Amino acid sequence: MQRRPNTVNRIDLERDLREAGVRDGDLLVVHSSLSRVGWIQGGPLDALAALRAVLGPRGTLVMPTFTFNLSCWGMPPFDPERTPSRVGVLTDALRHLDGSVRSSHPTHSVAAIGPLAADLIGDRIDYEPLGIGSPLDRAQMMGGRILLIGVGQNRNSTVHVAECYAQVPYFAVNFSEDSSWDEAWYLNEKGGRELVIIDQMPGSSEGFDVLENPLRRMGVVRDVMIGEAPSQMMEGNRLCVAVTSLLMENPALLLGGDATSDITRRRRLHTMKVLNQRSHRPTDLTPILQGSAP
Ligand SMILES: CC(C)(COP(=O)(O)OP(=O)(O)OC[C@H]1O[C@@H](n2cnc3c(N)ncnc32)[C@H](O)[C@@H]1OP(=O)(O)O)[C@@H](O)C(=O)NCCC(=O)NCCS
Repeated sequence: MQRRPNTVNRIDLERDLREAGVRDGDLLVVHSSLSRVGWIQGGPLDALAALRAVLGPRGTLVMPTFTFNLSCWGMPPFDPERTPSRVGVLTDALRHLDGSVRSSHPTHSVAAIGPLAADLIGDRIDYEPLGIGSPLDRAQMMGGRILLIGVGQNRNSTVHVAECYAQVPYFAVNFSEDSSWDEAWYLNEKGGRELVIIDQMPGSSEGFDVLENPLRRMGVVRDVMIGEAPSQMMEGNRLCVAVTSLLMENPALLLGGDATSDITRRRRLHTMKVLNQRSHRPTDLTPILQGSAP
């Protein structure tokens, strides 16, 4: 018989968040699975209220609101006002909060609320979806921390940022098989269509599980509990530096054995070819080491 989840209220959540190390004034990126936490009395809005109470008025909360509106999948233009997030109810609730802002990126938008929100989101799309200068990269460079609530590294989008720092060879393989780039459209504030050409489209994160043990061994990740959900807390910059170094040693690391999606299979084949043809040249870590985490 299936066990009924325990009831969790806002006070319980605030206590767990503090015990997990969330601090007043933090810049916090959250990825979540609400159903893992237990039965939250006030639903997603209470979960957001708990996060905001612990972060306080000087804190900034950031979440992915990804929609993956790639043209090659026949997706319509992304509308930042209307297109629902496809990565969890908590993320969609955040984008609806008064005072929250959402970026216009047609595949990998993020929502944020708090004093750093506007700076993080920016007002132009002059970056790759999860690349250098993207909101999640800015978050890790500004000392942001990451909380994975009830999900593991295979949902940690900042790992994709590290792929960009490591200059992994597999971004050469696109979702659009007949083109050397991917493309996606969004609607600007006047309702006009704008095109975004993507050179570094994040692939599937199914192989990121391979990071779980190494990141614990390196002391990057702290295991915590939020309600009933096994969760992980980390400094974004330390995560990025650690994953970038691991990828420099082994650029195929995240394209792991059990990963079965078409894009991962094609990227793995390409990477093996590249690595066989030339010895992989190490990347200069200087830019990422300038991030503000200790
Ligand atoms: C896909 C994913 C969101 C699914 O997790 P989930 O817990 O099933 O879904 P949500 O977080 O949206 O929470 C909604 C679920 O919580 C449960 N729920 C509903 N009310 C609830 C409440 N008051 N308290 C607790 N759980 C509740 C329901 O099961 C609901 O699912 P349903 O609407 O289909 O019945 C999760 O596995 C995941 O991947 N999260 C990370 C997403 C991310 O950040 N991605 C970016 C990198 S890939």
